[in-house]
Amino acid sequence: MKRIILSSLLLAWQFSATAQSTSKLIGADKAIDPYHYTSVKSNTFDHASVACAHPLASAVGAEMMKQGGNAFDAAVATQLALAVVYSNAGNIGGGGFLVARKADGKNLALDYRETAPSKASRDMYLDKNGNAQTLLSQFGHQASGVPGTVAGLFATALHGKLPFKILIQPAIELAEFGYCITEREAAALNSVRESLTKNSTGASAFVKENNLPAGRQGWKAGDTLIQKDLAETLKRIRDNGQKGFYEGKTAELVVEEMKKGGGIISLEDLKNYKVRTRNALEFNYKGNTIIGMPPPSSGGLIVWQLMKMMEKRPLASYGFQSTKSVQLMVEAERRSYADRAEFMGDPDFWKVPVKTLTSDAYIKNRMADYDSNKATPSKDIKAGIIKESEETTHISIIDQYGNMISITTTLNNSYGSRTVVAGAGFIMNDEMDDFSVKPGVANMYGALGGEANAIQPGKRMLSSMTPTLVLDKNRKPLIVAGTPGGTTIPTSVFQTLVNILDFGMNATDAVNKPKFHHQWMPDEVMLEKGFNEDVKKELQSMGYKVSERGAIGRTEVIRILANGKREVAADKRGDDSVSGF
Ligand code: GLY
Repeated sequence: MKRIILSSLLLAWQFSATAQSTSKLIGADKAIDPYHYTSVKSNTFDHASVACAHPLASAVGAEMMKQGGNAFDAAVATQLALAVVYSNAGNIGGGGFLVARKADGKNLALDYRETAPSKASRDMYLDKNGNAQTLLSQFGHQASGVPGTVAGLFATALHGKLPFKILIQPAIELAEFGYCITEREAAALNSVRESLTKNSTGASAFVKENNLPAGRQGWKAGDTLIQKDLAETLKRIRDNGQKGFYEGKTAELVVEEMKKGGGIISLEDLKNYKVRTRNALEFNYKGNTIIGMPPPSSGGLIVWQLMKMMEKRPLASYGFQSTKSVQLMVEAERRSYADRAEFMGDPDFWKVPVKTLTSDAYIKNRMADYDSNKATPSKDIKAGIIKESEETTHISIIDQYGNMISITTTLNNSYGSRTVVAGAGFIMNDEMDDFSVKPGVANMYGALGGEANAIQPGKRMLSSMTPTLVLDKNRKPLIVAGTPGGTTIPTSVFQTLVNILDFGMNATDAVNKPKFHHQWMPDEVMLEKGFNEDVKKELQSMGYKVSERGAIGRTEVIRILANGKREVAADKRGDDSVSGF
């Protein structure tokens, strides 16, 4: 087996360290060297590929497929590796969604979103005066929902070919013997040092040194991060299956941590966690088939609405990111996000009117007041009338057998609630903030919500995650796409898809071109750094409030070319990397 190639297209780092491991795969002299690695931003492969947020995790996934595993094996191994090497969003303490198109032509949608604990209640984040305490829904022990990721991994592995113990072994060794962190990771860990300390009851591997003299940072690029407690947790999962997380010692450590910090997750909550298999959304866009995640994610529905709002308009003829095309897309985004706030929530608790929201008549009516000359103020846009009742991470995979998988998984905020489970070494999510804690009060992404997304015990909080697949006109695999980015996720996926399908871009350009975002409220267009200045000024002159922001998303795209090769692109905005063969 070949070591990870050290020639980088855009970015490279090399570190040296010595450590011992027992793996056939992981080690200084093995196929995947955790101390010398690099980010590869784009490549074209003949058979199989993975694009995700970290080079080591991409390599682990690709190696599983090289050893005869399929995309589902790669999905499990990559997520587990990300839980070790990308601790700000890769996780076992969070949740996610998987959308797959199997080689036999069947769709699969797995919902392993976190659930509200049984002791959760609608007003749990309101003080005695009824004011929302969003710090509690965003940080610390009360912010966590019951994690779904480990159950999701086992549900995914049912479709794989390799034993789970093979899939989890690279993650165990990356945790036990360590890996070298990148400059970006060092900076991220340093930036949350105080917050991790404040919100956790014990010491953790993520805090290198306490009591640092003023001005001294703990972590630097090239340092080795060793996570012994996490390695032991992963071994319990390897040896006891799902029960190694949801029952026994790991569950007890979670509940102990919760009790010490005022959290409410119980042993019963963990034991009762269930993955839901949903019906993937499927719709036609100009002859292509788009497959997406249904509620409790809003992502698939938003992309469906946005694409349909575009379909009958000559978007390509307006030009890529011309004022005309951006303004049209912004107005569509505004309307769709107003619907999100009103109608979308966990379908096990709230009837989401999927059929109506995506019907031709509804979509046409939604854009009836669109004015191509000026901004429509969001205060004038309500949710449509119907008669029936920013840290996350994405993995795109295709294998040599024709299975394609899109997975988005999250702790919500970067490093989640900042609570590390003492003795178990993993970070808990702060997904409770994705509920509407009070009507009219924005969550951390500025998103509003109401009754549909109110807190109830056992309910899944509304998500924006948008794992997406596209089939071509002959229903053959064409695109695997997705991104992190909170509420910007559906708009980034939408723009990535039209970049390829309408503006004819390759995967790398589709991923890396600047993005823009409108989410109804706040009533402003966010433009990513690097966006065309002239278009910005023209939008302002049409009445748009415009704000500039840093990176929007980290999109991972696989585009299957006419000759069957897999063109893969990892976002330039992070350490993201592709791997394959
Ligand atoms: N926590 C981000 C999302 O699920 O949309």
